[in-house]
Amino acid sequence: MSWQSFPKVELHLHLEGAAPPAFIRGLAAEKKIDLRGIFREDGSYAYENFEHFLTVYEAACTVLTTPEDYRRLTLAVLEESAAHGVVYSETFVSPDFCGGGDVEAWRDYLAAMEEAAAEAERKFGITLKAIVTSIRHFGPDKARAPAICAAETKGAFLTGYGMAGAEMVGRPGDYTWAFDCAREAGLHLTCHAGEWGGPDMVADTLRDLAPERIGHGVNAIHDPALVDRLAEAGTVLEVCPGSNVVLNATPGGWSGHPIARLRERGVRVTVSTDDPPFFHTTMTREYEGLEKAFGWGEEEFRALNRTALDAAFCDADTKTRIGTLLEGTP
Ligand code: HPA
Ligand code: ZN
Repeated sequence: MSWQSFPKVELHLHLEGAAPPAFIRGLAAEKKIDLRGIFREDGSYAYENFEHFLTVYEAACTVLTTPEDYRRLTLAVLEESAAHGVVYSETFVSPDFCGGGDVEAWRDYLAAMEEAAAEAERKFGITLKAIVTSIRHFGPDKARAPAICAAETKGAFLTGYGMAGAEMVGRPGDYTWAFDCAREAGLHLTCHAGEWGGPDMVADTLRDLAPERIGHGVNAIHDPALVDRLAEAGTVLEVCPGSNVVLNATPGGWSGHPIARLRERGVRVTVSTDDPPFFHTTMTREYEGLEKAFGWGEEEFRALNRTALDAAFCDADTKTRIGTLLEGTP
């Protein structure tokens, strides 16, 4: 069966990382910004490894200079997600790219994204919530401004705070100020860990930053005691298998990916695309990959989506409404 129209919940999607290359090229042409170096001849994004991916990502972001750019981006991304059956999505977005960490500038960007989300909900039947991220490789000092932006604009649309970027820069404990600021504002918390770092990075992140969810977390598999702890605590992992396979974050391709072993050991896993055009993936392709590698089908995918909805950073009414959409699965 095709999984394209199967209703899905996606928790781990970087808004700028979901920008189709043609969208970025179009804005670059409008603004006369030369971005030729970041594209291959076939039009896709060109990068060699994770570090280079982050550089290309940031170069692509240089064309996103106004709230209107983010309104258009949000609408384009949600249309594409909805075309792959996503009924509820959470996207990471960074005030560093939206007004340089200035709270007043950030308000305008956020309002533009919220406007696009409302339009996408009417037109495509997809609900969006936003998660502010600090960018880890910008360092602990620069992590503070996005957390303040998030704390100042928390609401029905902006519901979470987290951290992305190069995982090996600093230790989790260097970022406690930003996480405490967001926590005190009542935001939900998530943090990338265990994509590049080992199980110790996941453990230290849980100890020092205490997020509800972990972005990726797959390297926890190398420490059986940590896997048990994750399972017992019910910590939800935002697993992005296609991203891990393309970036070689996990060995053995799809069939060697730890998601199946984590799930068998009782860890609450979910599935997302991370930065879909960069990794040549979609939610449909993620499901196809899991079906092919592990024989997963309707039962497993329904369970994944229920876990994701349970762990979603949204209000109870939204969960009830989206739950009804998931139950309508044919
Ligand atoms: N990993 C870490 N940081 C990121 C990513 C990612 O896949 N995408 C954008 N920032
Ligand atoms: Zn990510």
